[in-house]
Amino acid sequence: IKVTYIESNGTAHEVDLDPGQTVMEGAVNAGIGGIWGDCGGACSCATCHVYVDPAWRALTGEKSEMEESMLECATAEVDPEGSRLSCQLAVSDALDGLIIRLPETQ
Ligand code: FES
Repeated sequence: IKVTYIESNGTAHEVDLDPGQTVMEGAVNAGIGGIWGDCGGACSCATCHVYVDPAWRALTGEKSEMEESMLECATAEVDPEGSRLSCQLAVSDALDGLIIRLPETQ
């Protein structure tokens, strides 16, 4: 499942994820510095904040309440429509081609 991560400076990285892997895990495994994932995916650190590309928002679904409240701790500006915690975003075949934009800071 191909996911493209676009850094805030425009640099793009295409990474191949396994089904069920999270967007955070994919980035950390690939050494993409723009996502930290400090809490290891427990939805308790907000250092995996990303923006889902507008074209993909319908398919990535809704945030949980826990994710929503943890996002308030994100350092970069939160976009109510596109901001997600990437450890809460597991990929499936339906998300092949997903485009994720990284904030300037975590
Ligand atoms: Fe900590 Fe996502 S990795 S909230």
